[in-house]
Amino acid sequence: MATPLTLVIFGASGDLTARKLIPALYQLDLRGRLPEQLRVLGVSRTAYTDDSFREYLADRLRDENGGEAFDPLRWTSFAQRLHYLAADVTQAAGIQALAQWLSQQEDSGGQRLYYLAVAPELYAPLSLRLGEAGFHHENGGFRRLVIEKPFGQDRASAAALNAALHRYWREEQIYRIDHYLGKDTVQNILVFRFANTLFEPLWNYQYIDHVQITVAERGTVGRRGAYYDKAGVLRDMMQNHMLQILTMVAIEDPTRFTAENLRNEKMKVLEAIAPWSEARLSQAVALGQYRGYRCEHGVRPDSRTPTYAALRLEIENRRWRGVPFYLRSGKGLKSRYSEVVIQFRCPSHLMFSLPPGEKLQCNRITLVIQPNEGIRLNFQTKVPDVEGVRLQPRDLAFDYRQAYADRTIPEAYERLLLDALQGDAALFMRADEIERAWEILDPIIAAAEDPEAPPPEEYPIGSQGPTGAEALLRAEGREWTPIP
Ligand code: BG6
Repeated sequence: MATPLTLVIFGASGDLTARKLIPALYQLDLRGRLPEQLRVLGVSRTAYTDDSFREYLADRLRDENGGEAFDPLRWTSFAQRLHYLAADVTQAAGIQALAQWLSQQEDSGGQRLYYLAVAPELYAPLSLRLGEAGFHHENGGFRRLVIEKPFGQDRASAAALNAALHRYWREEQIYRIDHYLGKDTVQNILVFRFANTLFEPLWNYQYIDHVQITVAERGTVGRRGAYYDKAGVLRDMMQNHMLQILTMVAIEDPTRFTAENLRNEKMKVLEAIAPWSEARLSQAVALGQYRGYRCEHGVRPDSRTPTYAALRLEIENRRWRGVPFYLRSGKGLKSRYSEVVIQFRCPSHLMFSLPPGEKLQCNRITLVIQPNEGIRLNFQTKVPDVEGVRLQPRDLAFDYRQAYADRTIPEAYERLLLDALQGDAALFMRADEIERAWEILDPIIAAAEDPEAPPPEEYPIGSQGPTGAEALLRAEGREWTPIP
């Protein structure tokens, strides 16, 4: 018989469980991807039974996507895996109840993935409690701990959290989530670069003028005002998702695709990001706040929290010398759209003449992360049947969904849950990566939070963002690609 395998979700009555984790597990189950013996134990204080927990989750799943994903029969079979324990695990009695439940299921041995889907203030105390009670001991099977974001609010708090985790847990047991790494299109950046011959030889300062990374959201803060107002876009998106995408674009190829190799290479990129001087800070950051943000529920009426940021970073190594990486992310923008644009330099000499006032649009590769996942290669063509030679840029396009019409593009959490169950940490962040990422952001956050600093520029909902972001690039003779 297979060794028992339990996914213990702490914070099981919370939003993340119903909105992301259970739908991901259900989808995996539909596609036959879950280990046969996997059981999911939801733990929180709410007084559910196994049955009422299953019903609650079924209702939530039905509500998502207008119930499209829901199939009552298949749900019933999936729901057999779901169990619930009402316990307060911040108390000894709760921990004991959990130990008892697990030991009843496991006999002599079992494998466990603990998922901390709880409030961030509980990451440290809960991991310590679990450690004190010996939940980290790998006698009879693995013990892994998954931690959600936000992982700290600055370098110091992230280091303190890492120290608390390491008190009982080995680094290899810790899986820190950045769900952007779970997206196929983000992983595909590495495949695009390192499994092809065409692009990598050009992937450096000699041929690339600059890189743009955009994660635009149409949605506003919604019900998350109280959390968001303390975080803002710098903590919520830049420190994690944006920098993670940047590392994928910029790293050297690891000799083999293993977690440690990959994370070592990512760490080198983060380490090479140039430190901020005061002068550079003011020229390299543009912040915005969408109009109406201060009236959102949970937001301070005089809030200076940025909901949009554009940054200019440089990576000081041989490959990227002098190539700016422009990052922008915001809420309340024109559309939900994420892309990486590799803007190539222009040919050193052009034998064709352009109409007066016209500039050549030089080659550009656009990696569309979401939605309409795909890749576009923009290049010059000759316009047919006109006098002389007239140039026009056109796209060579790859559409992920069309090319893989027989497959679904999974949700990020599906991939990450499977990887954590299988012990593959490549798409999770290591302690040093997280701390270094905070080190990069901390000075920007401090400058933004300085009461003397000007407030973020207001921008209308549904727009391209603040004009300051445009100015940041214009000052260097460049421009953002428009958010479609
Ligand atoms: C989360 C942020 O990490 O990522 C949210 O906390 C943001 O504010 C979300 O909306 C964006 O993720 P996705 O996958 O919808 O682009």
